[in-house]
Amino acid sequence: MDLHEMDRYIKSIIKEAGHRIRNSFLSDISIESKSDADDLVTNIDKEIEQFFISRINRDFPGHRIYGEEGFGDDIQDHKGIIWLLDPIDGTMNFVHQKRNFAISLGVYEEGIGKLGYIYDVVNDDLYHGVLGGGAYYNDERLSKLKDTVIGESIIAMNATWAVPNSYFDHKGTLQLIQDVRGIRSYGSAALELAYLASGRVDAYLSMRLSPWDIAGGMVIAGEVGAIATNFNGAPANLLEQDTFLAANPSIHSQILEKYILPK
Ligand code: IPD
Ligand code: CA
Ligand code: CA
Ligand code: CA
Repeated sequence: MDLHEMDRYIKSIIKEAGHRIRNSFLSDISIESKSDADDLVTNIDKEIEQFFISRINRDFPGHRIYGEEGFGDDIQDHKGIIWLLDPIDGTMNFVHQKRNFAISLGVYEEGIGKLGYIYDVVNDDLYHGVLGGGAYYNDERLSKLKDTVIGESIIAMNATWAVPNSYFDHKGTLQLIQDVRGIRSYGSAALELAYLASGRVDAYLSMRLSPWDIAGGMVIAGEVGAIATNFNGAPANLLEQDTFLAANPSIHSQILEKYILPK
């Protein structure tokens, strides 16, 4: 695959999709709940996924698509070229705030991330990464992450850690909050990975993410040296839902070992 040509193509369809999303602000959208009352989906999530799929199928026959809303392929393995797409990451923010959401897209070949994109639609900010070619915030090349320490780190995580769960005990959670400089919660896994790649946060962790939430961001964050695994330290899962920790390499193993309960 010609990465340079695909990169140009992808940037243009992402911008077109962003334009469609911004236009949706002008009319009523229909909102439904999926697995529970807080798990929202709108007609725009579905329309944007279908928009990408129709373009990819037309222009890249043979490639497979793994999208959140289920209009793509049934993906069970890493064979060939797979586009992992979240048409709107941060749907709750999209519905309630009309900001703080993103389009997330990763292109993988035989399980290896080649291209990654996170498009902050409202701010018209595009983060992207090309395997071996660096990561970018719009036209600006992002620098490699510099070493840090837990005491000077900002960690992005959502509030579910405060609900009893099997990964954090109360003590571990309080210790983490005390030890770090700050905790942030933005409500879009993709944006949180973009912020990790651009050095605005030093780690992002979640007890449950899906492949389309992380695929684009992993390429981008990987290009600046971030490490992404599940809570067992195994490579992040791109076939099914799993735990997830992406961090500056100088604090990644410390977070796993000191604050997350062993399984
Ligand atoms: C969600 C967001 C959220 C994360 C959830 C995801 P969606 O994606 O990334 O920040 O905490 O786990 O499911 O449903 O808005 O695309
Ligand atoms: Ca969703
Ligand atoms: Ca998502
Ligand atoms: Ca989504």
